[in-house]
Parts: sequence; C-alpha cells; structure tokens
Amino acid sequence: MPAIVVHAVGKSILFGEHAVVYGYPAIAVPIRDLRTKATIIPNIRNEDHSYFFNAPDIGISDFISNLPENNILARALDLFTHAYNLKHIPSFRLTITSQIPVASGLGSSASISVAIIRAISQFLGLKLSNERVNEFAYELEKLHHGNPSGIDNTVVTYENTLYYVRTKEPQFLHSPVPYHVVLINSGVKSLTAQVVAEVKDNKEKNSQRMNSLFKVTGNITEMAKTVFLEGEVPKLGELMTENHKILQEIGVSIPELDRLVKIALDCGAYGAKLCGAGKGGNVIALMQEEDIPSLAQALETQGINNFFHTVIQ
Ligand code: PMV
Repeated sequence: MPAIVVHAVGKSILFGEHAVVYGYPAIAVPIRDLRTKATIIPNIRNEDHSYFFNAPDIGISDFISNLPENNILARALDLFTHAYNLKHIPSFRLTITSQIPVASGLGSSASISVAIIRAISQFLGLKLSNERVNEFAYELEKLHHGNPSGIDNTVVTYENTLYYVRTKEPQFLHSPVPYHVVLINSGVKSLTAQVVAEVKDNKEKNSQRMNSLFKVTGNITEMAKTVFLEGEVPKLGELMTENHKILQEIGVSIPELDRLVKIALDCGAYGAKLCGAGKGGNVIALMQEEDIPSLAQALETQGINNFFHTVIQ
C-alpha cells in the first residue's frame, strides 16, 4: 500500500473569540497558506497494534504504547474502533508536520486533529463525511481544550469562512470581495485551555460585567456578518478594532498584542485585533493591499519579522 498523505488548513477567528464559548456567535476564516501534513505508512514488519506516532512539532516520536494514555492518536484510534465496530486496525507509522505555529491562535491543534482523522479514515478505506470528520476532530480538541466551542475544528474541517454558534449548524459566508489580511505573530506563546480557564474564572467573579462584554461581542459579530457579506471592507475593519477593545476588557490582550494592533492601524489598516485565545499568539490586520509593503517595513524596522499576507473571501 502506498503512503497516504493528507493536508488540513489553519484558521483565524475574525470575530467573537471567548464569547463563542458562552453561546454567542463568532466568525472564523480558514488560512489556506498554513497547512498541516499527515502521512501514514503501513508498518507491515511490525506486530499487530503497533502504531508509531512521529509529530516533531508537538514533541512526539514514539509508539503510542509508550505515550500517555490520553494521547491524540490513541484517542483517534479509539473513536474509529467504536464508531465502526472495528476488530483490528493494521499497524502504521503516522508522521505529522505543520506550518502552523503551536500555541499561537492559528488553529494548530484543530488542524492536527482534522489531519489525523482524515489520514486514518483513508488508511482504513473509509469515506467520512465532513460532518463525521468534524465530530471526531471535536473529540480530539477536547483533549487539549477541555471545553472547546467547536469553532476551530469546524472551520478547519470545512475550509470555509463561517458564522458559528455553539451546537448549531455552521453558516458559510461568501464575500463579494477579497479581504487582504496580515497575520502578525507576537512571538508570545499562550495555551488556549489556560486562557479560557482564566476567562471562566473572571466570569464567575464578575458575571454581570463579563456577560455584558460577551453580549457586546455578540452584537459586533452580528454586524460583522452583514458587513462581511456586503463586502464593506472599511466597516469590517472598524468592527475588528472594536472587537479588540472588548477583548482588552475581557482581559486577554497583552501589551505586545496592543502594540501590533497600533502599528497596523498607524500603517493604514482598516482594523486589527488579536485572534484566538489571546495572551499571546497573533494579531490579524485588515489592510488595503497597497498599504501592506509599508506595514511590512514598519514591522521589520521594529524587529518584527514573523508575519505574512493572506487573502480571505
Ligand atoms: O487559541 P485558539 O486558536 O485555539 O482559539 C480559541 C478560541 C476560543 O474562543 C478562545 C476558545 C474556543 O473554544 O472557542
């Protein structure tokens, strides 16, 4: 059997992170320029039930029998075994490599989860619907995030911009114009599970204030949905910056992210905000294409080299 190779994209949240955990809407976009690659090679020489997991980006290179019990590959095999009543999954070696920086709000864990599910399903000769891929990937996301809203695995599975409300069917959004965005990495790593737990704690202590911030976020996202569909680029940018201000109040921004937002706005961005859990990771700036070189120059002058331009629609 030849090697099986599959890819999964990255993502960015355009509006509504954190509020989405509490049932408010959010908008996420696939980032097609960032990909995870999963390769499976059958391991005919090894005895039954021997699965080698090689994922250098997340520091794993071992047989799953030597890894902690709740490792992502073991959980994935478990999902397949139960869903399809499998008696035996042949031995294989799975390698995962990703262009998506870990702990940076660009969907690295969701992308790895989707890639693993797609690779195993092909290896088993199963044709999984996107719904099924998404359902399994959500189960894997729970290993990292505890209480994920499901937006990350959904946007990575469908590779479409989506308006998402927890537990509801996603709505796909198609814009009449391309949106040029620049993703700028603060270089600060942050763990989503930890930031989500801090927000939860804050919500328990200051429920009225936090609920009202989530509600305002929900209203911004609703407006953004209409504006996105109409292709009103400047207005969409304004809403992004408004969303960033709310994220500051929610307590998930840090000076490094605020600085990147300011640099982008000073270089003519329509709007900019942190994306993902915050406390580190990336800023997403919506730009006029012509202004991107001056933003690139301003960033480089300040020693910031980890950024890239991509287009969403
Ligand atoms: O940091 P990321 O890219 O995993 O994004 C997390 C988004 C949150 O809304 C903070 C959490 C969630 O589960 O939706």
